Amino acid sequence: MAELGFDVVGVESDPGKVAALREGRVPFYEPALPELLSRHVESGRLRFTDDLSEAAAADVHFVCVGTPQQPDSLGADLTYVDAAIESLAPLLTRPTVVVGKSTVPVGTAERLTARLAELAPAGAEALLAWNPEFLREGFAVEDTLRPDRLVLGTTHERAEATLREVYATALCAGTPLVVTDLATAELVKVSANAFLATKISFINAMAEICEKVGADVTDLADAIGHDKRIGRKFLNAGVGFGGGCLPKDIRAFQHRASELGVDQATAFLRDVDAINQRRRERVVELTRDLVAGDPVTATGPRVAFLGAAFKPDSDDVRDSPALWIAERLHRDGYDVVVHDPEATGPARAKLPEATYTEDLDEALTGADVVLHLTEWPVYRRIDPVRAAGLVRHPRIVDGRTVLDVEAWRSAGWDLRSLGRP
Ligand code: UGA
Repeated sequence: MAELGFDVVGVESDPGKVAALREGRVPFYEPALPELLSRHVESGRLRFTDDLSEAAAADVHFVCVGTPQQPDSLGADLTYVDAAIESLAPLLTRPTVVVGKSTVPVGTAERLTARLAELAPAGAEALLAWNPEFLREGFAVEDTLRPDRLVLGTTHERAEATLREVYATALCAGTPLVVTDLATAELVKVSANAFLATKISFINAMAEICEKVGADVTDLADAIGHDKRIGRKFLNAGVGFGGGCLPKDIRAFQHRASELGVDQATAFLRDVDAINQRRRERVVELTRDLVAGDPVTATGPRVAFLGAAFKPDSDDVRDSPALWIAERLHRDGYDVVVHDPEATGPARAKLPEATYTEDLDEALTGADVVLHLTEWPVYRRIDPVRAAGLVRHPRIVDGRTVLDVEAWRSAGWDLRSLGRP
């Protein structure tokens, strides 16, 4: 927003993060964001505070807090969204638009509209709109400045006009805009993520069948992907989806549908989740098979993990397939060594018992099995001949189906690939 010319105040409750942001430091890994942040902290168009009253007089308030999965159910935890509205509303003094960006169960915006009206002082004329967010981690800057589409959920002319002004740059560049009601805007977000998760699990289900008959899921994906109605994107088979969005969003969607009495409408998402889970189990099974004949050692078989983040260009390990597998193998007595270019810090916080390194050679040295689970480009550049000289046994599971099978096998590696012969 500062890049687009607006005067922006970021409100953050964690004082450590506020301090870092004020110095122009991004508290997580995201390409291209550090340059933007420091540019606009310096220009003065972007400020940070932990005091919400400093932001109360704004023309537009974006609510961007998380909605993680509840610890004891499939549903979304709305504590942070509710708290944001409860604390902001009484501070409002002039006409404003409060814009929800968080991913929420359908019906939340209507409930918050009522709450805002109750809590905002007379004369504040606070309108609530819903404007879902579609950015991908790793492409946050690009997706924000040049989105595929914009969705505005509001039936108020003033709210729509304000948001059209906020997004004028993208709209002038021809970005498609859908203006709709609150419920549809909330649903657009969860249904988009449900569709993406389904596409990934579809190709991973095909991978399971390919494994049975010796077929190749990457050729299959290329072939069906040429059909424009299907498209090749999001048909990369492998260890499946993770992160802070797709897994919890498909679960929250099922939970909400069940509350609404339409659980059959999202019943297929149970399978989407189950297929995704089975791919993780498959990597564990392949690892066990590979070490089955080895002599038993006190430390257990050494497994080198290539990647801990849920995807490349991110240090996010929330619901990461790699870390799930690392946890499981560690529990089963394996000696787990994890390499990741960016995510060893967050991974260590979740699984302190594993060994972490940012030195790829160190990770590979003495390994009995190598697991390729996050497709950072650096792993594709590994020379299999040189790597074979570092490990104890040249055995690898390609959990992202991108390694050059021929090159690795001719360097003497026993390579197992998900969905490929
Ligand atoms: C996802 C959506 O793509 C965004 O549009 C959405 O805004 C975001 O969630 C959100 O709800 O905030 P993100 O979680 O950053 O974005 O990551 P994706 O690029 O969607 O990848 C999700 C997972 O699927 C990763 O683990 C990735 O490795 C996996 N994946 C992706 C596959 O296994 N195969 C594919 O073909 C594509």
